[in-house]
Amino acid sequence: MKVIETIAEMKQIRRGLPEPVGFVPTMGYLHEGHLTLVRRAKAESKSVVVSIYVNPTQFGPREDLAHYPRDIRRDLAMLEKVNTDIVFFPPDKEMYPPRFSTWVDVERVTEPLEGAIRPGHFRGVATVCAKLFNIVQPAKAYFGQKDAQQVVVIKRTVADLNMNLEIVVVPTVREPDGLAMSSRNTYLNPEERKAAVVLYQALGLAQQLWSKGEKNAERLRQAMTELIHKQPLAEKIDYVSVADAETLVELDEVKPPALVSLAVKIGKPRLIDNIVLE
Ligand code: PAJ
Repeated sequence: MKVIETIAEMKQIRRGLPEPVGFVPTMGYLHEGHLTLVRRAKAESKSVVVSIYVNPTQFGPREDLAHYPRDIRRDLAMLEKVNTDIVFFPPDKEMYPPRFSTWVDVERVTEPLEGAIRPGHFRGVATVCAKLFNIVQPAKAYFGQKDAQQVVVIKRTVADLNMNLEIVVVPTVREPDGLAMSSRNTYLNPEERKAAVVLYQALGLAQQLWSKGEKNAERLRQAMTELIHKQPLAEKIDYVSVADAETLVELDEVKPPALVSLAVKIGKPRLIDNIVLE
């Protein structure tokens, strides 16, 4: 496994990599969710590139950039174990040199949900992913369903800018109690960690009501909201949404595929999760 820190060297090594190349962009502090993406990439490609880059432009001024968890040595050991070929680990001055001025601004699908709570977040995500795709030039890039809106935004970017790669979406990897794995789960104290399962329970309730024939989206949102309010450590609900899975527009009547997603603050971190009603 090679660790590369400059764009010039990454581009040069890229030319000699056996095709097809699979690519997994990450911000590090890896867990089983990330590793599942790498394994999938490995199974479908001759070479696998993983990037570790805590992208400053996708964090808002009051967000956790400075405190985002980092442990590059542990990350590299984990990536070595799953047979990663190349780790791209650039410093900020490589990715955003002083005269950097070009942004990828995706309209509409970036506006609701995470976009409404985190203005500018998806502009940073789409821009860094476009840069990484240009540098790595993969045949396929792997993204987790955990960040459902991110997947919609990146698919839109790739289609609109005619980029030559396929976006592969990998199902959310969960802890045994159902909590979606996330680097931010490390911020939870033991009590909050137990309470955090309420997100999964709320999604399960929506799935159950839908399976029993409930088609009224507002009733699903209400039932989930009520359940979350019963958990005193769930301090603030940012949103509970039942939306069209492609446009992310809120639904009145549930028409599959519908994206049920939520963002809830438990202790310090805000946690997100989702399911798709098929
Ligand atoms: P990060 O949060 O590190 O996540 C990297 C990838 O791992 C994303 O595609 C994310 O959806 C996926 N992932 C995280 N937790 C997962 C889980 N429990 N199950 C399945 N996949 C999971 O997402 C980002 O980084 C950044 O926005 C990035 C795309 C790297 C751009 O900076």
